[in-house]
Parts: sequence; structure tokens; C-alpha cells
Amino acid sequence: MNKILKKLNSIGIIPVVTIDNIEKAIPLAEALVEGGIHCMEITFRTEQAEEAIKKITTKVPKMLVGAGTVLNIEQADKAIKAGAKFLISPGLNPKVVKYCIEKDYLMIPGIATPSDVEQAINLNVSIVKFFPAEAAGGINMIKSISSPYSEMKFIPTGGINNQNLNQYLSFNKVICCGGSWILNEEYIVKNQFDKITKLCREAIFTMLGFEIDHVGINAENETVAKDIAKNFSQFFNFSINENEFSIFMDKSVEIIKNVYLGKHGHIAIKTNYIERAINYIEIMGGKFDINTIKKVDGKIISIFLEDEIGGFAIQLVQK
Ligand code: 3PG
Repeated sequence: MNKILKKLNSIGIIPVVTIDNIEKAIPLAEALVEGGIHCMEITFRTEQAEEAIKKITTKVPKMLVGAGTVLNIEQADKAIKAGAKFLISPGLNPKVVKYCIEKDYLMIPGIATPSDVEQAINLNVSIVKFFPAEAAGGINMIKSISSPYSEMKFIPTGGINNQNLNQYLSFNKVICCGGSWILNEEYIVKNQFDKITKLCREAIFTMLGFEIDHVGINAENETVAKDIAKNFSQFFNFSINENEFSIFMDKSVEIIKNVYLGKHGHIAIKTNYIERAINYIEIMGGKFDINTIKKVDGKIISIFLEDEIGGFAIQLVQK
């Protein structure tokens, strides 16, 4: 997968922004960055699109800016010249797609039917926007389309919000979701950009679905670990599940048979999408110890943060 697409995949959400007032472009981009969303699509639905892309790419360098509603070659050129790193269109215009491929622009055309997908395949396109996602059949439609066209990947957009976001993102053919649900118009008009940041966080936390998985206790050795386990089971009747490394009590307390990570032990936090969670935490300034990564079939299932919190090592685990 291309570097930009990998980045979009790890962010998970592309806010679709239409700028009516150029003065709003920078504060809006900064509000998204503050909320942990480092990408946005600026639609060519207003005259301000080109200038907004230019301003944001220069003044908010952390932001990965794409252009949306790119309907013709002229707009594609303008968008790239202004600094857009990817182009998206609501439908598939073969002329525009061919032009972008020739120019090596990353173009994601829109599709809504199997015939559209076949057009995309003929043009060597392997990632499409599924638009308008909810109105065109939602996740069930994407799953149905994926059966015959198993190589195709999708960016659903249209009618997506915190309620249905994970229905889409949990399907492995979906790269990320686009939408305008974070861009509350009233907040933008009233310059309440902190509220936009809050909406970003709500969307991110809905997507990541953080929950405590278990608490880990470091015992000095196996005998001490067994004693601790006995105490727990005596009072709480937790089921005991022992392996070479540790004793699990009811999946929620892990007693490690030696001194392990963390002054007091560790807290494991589970998430819907570990790679997206890593990306988000890194964006927010957290660092991970790559020596602690555990993988199954090439996919990360667990990793520890470099720093402890309150004397506990923090482990992130895939649900
Ligand atoms: C788009 O162009 O991608 C849509 O307008 C975004 O759809 P939404 O407003 O329903 O999120």
C-alpha cells in the first residue's frame, strides 16, 4: 500500500471539509490536529478550496491534506499544485482517473455499484471511495461487492457517524471512513473550535474502543505467584488459568511468575484496532517500546508504552 494510504489507514477517519470562509481554514485544521486527526479532505465545492489547501499545507505541516469532489482535470492540477497529497471524487470519471494515473497523482474515485468497480479495475484502481455509503447499501453492500472483487479496498463516505463507524472499520476491506459528522456547522460559524476538537476525540475513542483488559501483578517467583492466586480464589472464586509465564485469574488479573515490566505491575488496555491506537497515542506524544511487540500472523497483538503511568507499565492489546 502507498505511504499516504497507509497513513490514512492508520488514522481511520478522514474529515470531509467544505470551506466557505477562508478565515476558518487554519483554526479548523488546528482543531483536528489537536483532536488527534491528522488528515482532512477539502472539497472543491467552494471557490476557497484551492487557497485553503495551500494555507493548511504551509501553516499546519502535521496535517495531511487531500482534495475532495475533484470532478475534472483542471481541479486535479489545481489541488496538487496547492499541496494536496491525494485526490478523491464522488464518482468515477475515467478521463480524470487516467490523467491522475499518468501524472502519478493518488486518485481515489467514487463507486456505488459492481459495474463501477469493474470500471475501476479496468483502470488499475484498487482503492475506491464507496459513496454515498449509507444510502447505497452500507456495510452489507460493501461486503457483497467484496465477494467477487476481493482485491478491491474501500473508503466508505456518506452518512457515517459515531453510531455506524465501527460497522465499516471492522471489515478488513475498509481502509478508513470519510465524513463530515465531526464538522459541526454551528461550532464552525461561532468559532468554537475547541468543540470540534472534542468531537474528534469522541470519534477517535468510539473507533478505538479502549477498555481495561487486565491488571498484571509481578510476583518474585512461582511460589509467591501461586500464593497470590490462592488468596484471590479463596475470596473471589476466580477461575485459574496457568501457563509457563503467569497465572491468569478470571482473565482480569494476571500474576506473573517473575519480576516483569512496571514497578507495581502492568495494566493492559484493549482496543478495537491496535495499529490505529498506536498511531493515535504517538500523535498525542506517547512512545512505544518496539522490543515488546507481539505479533500473530504478521499482525501486532500487543505492545507496551515506553513510560510507566503511576508505576504501572501500560500494555496495549488487540481485542
Ligand atoms: C462527501 O462528499 O464525501 C460527503 O459529502 C460526506 O458525506 P457526509 O456529509 O454524509 O458525511
